[in-house]
Amino acid sequence: MTQFVIHGGKKLQGEVEISGAKNAAVAILPAAFLVDGECRIENIPQISDVTLLLESMADMGAEIRTVNRTTMDIRCRGLSYREPGPAMGEIRASYYFIGALLGRFGQARVPMPGGCDIGVRPIDQHLKGMRAMGAEVSVEGGYVNAKARNGRLHGANIYLDVVSVGATMNIMLAAALAKGKTVIENAAREPHIVDLANFLNAMGADIRGAGTSVIRVFGADRLRGGAYTIIPDQIEAGTYLAAAAAAGGDVLVKGVIPKHLFSITAKLEEMGCEIIDMGDMVRIRRDGRLHTANVKTMPYPGFPTDMQPQIVTCLARAGGTSVVTEDVWDNRFKYVSELAKMGAKIQVDGKVAVIEGVERLSGATVKACDLRAGAAMVIAGLSAEGVTRVTEIHHIQRGYEDLVQKLRGLGADICEEEVSEEPESSKNLA
Ligand code: EPZ
Repeated sequence: MTQFVIHGGKKLQGEVEISGAKNAAVAILPAAFLVDGECRIENIPQISDVTLLLESMADMGAEIRTVNRTTMDIRCRGLSYREPGPAMGEIRASYYFIGALLGRFGQARVPMPGGCDIGVRPIDQHLKGMRAMGAEVSVEGGYVNAKARNGRLHGANIYLDVVSVGATMNIMLAAALAKGKTVIENAAREPHIVDLANFLNAMGADIRGAGTSVIRVFGADRLRGGAYTIIPDQIEAGTYLAAAAAAGGDVLVKGVIPKHLFSITAKLEEMGCEIIDMGDMVRIRRDGRLHTANVKTMPYPGFPTDMQPQIVTCLARAGGTSVVTEDVWDNRFKYVSELAKMGAKIQVDGKVAVIEGVERLSGATVKACDLRAGAAMVIAGLSAEGVTRVTEIHHIQRGYEDLVQKLRGLGADICEEEVSEEPESSKNLA
């Protein structure tokens, strides 16, 4: 078992390069199944969710050639239908195989998606979209089974009852090769939605309006292939900004699209950080105690839920009381009990956390409850006095490339440590 060991209290100083966006990559890679040709995909993040996806795609017959560390050529020409293995049930993004396989082959059998335990995570809106496009869909034995009634999906008008990133992208995938026009109303507007549309358009699709709440997909007969570069990861960038805000220092976050970060940088400015937009870089400087702030998570362009644990951790040491409302997921404050071990004073009532800033946090052994909560534990460790050990880091490795190396590059005292598993007999089973 590996854990992170952090000697906290050091200011961060230097530059960090941001990797490709996880939540774009996990949709764009399955989208390669829609392409009856070869696509070159650049800026693929080196994270475990991507490794799992690529392994599964290779098992399903995709020919994948590594060009360099972050670039792959994926060839799905003349492929016949194969379904993803049960390992895909471990990650959330497995649901994108439903849209991609249904679009290309008129059928899909995919394990129900896993992912972070942050509340009820239904996929009813995805399935509603597939049904509207002419698919028969059932959920049995932990699998989603879908089949296009006439062998090929047809266009449809689909209104999403909730603004869902996954449903918007999945319906785009399914509609790219459907017969006729699909309109998605009340669509999500996240940067990764625009990225998926740009990828599909680069392959020959005709998708208009991505980034607005109405997306129109004019189904193509074939996608021919091409080259595409994935956008930088908004949440990875935000996490390094939050780390600098919490630990203090002067950090240049490089290779970003500042517009995607606006809700985060605006909040950090409100909290007393100096933010300098430098085109494709953002510089953050922070000295002295952070100010309080109230935050409410919302779909883009609102404050992202995937930055909620990191911002709460920053506010845990602010000079006063802050209120953070989680308005996307119904159970995303589980990590608060871990922060409490370090001295944080946070009261949670349903979707609202009231954070009474303390002067200092002290190192402790804390666990990564999920991906972003894990990142928050690292941030807490960097800003705490003493030694923090973060366990269950496999959650963090799902979504952050080279976190330890990148933080060490900023002067943080963080390393990975191997520990032997506690023998079953010595565990306290009470
Ligand atoms: C994506 O999840 C991200 N995951 C999540 O990031 C992120 O938190 C979320 O979008 C919101 O931004 C991936 O991209 C793989 P949603 P997704 O569908 O698509 C409800 C991370 O840390 N809903 O936008 O699954 C749902 O319950 C992860 O990187 C329905 O009711 O989220 C939630 O309340 C964690 N029915 C809200 O909509 C549906 O069919 C938003 O969910 C779908 C969703």
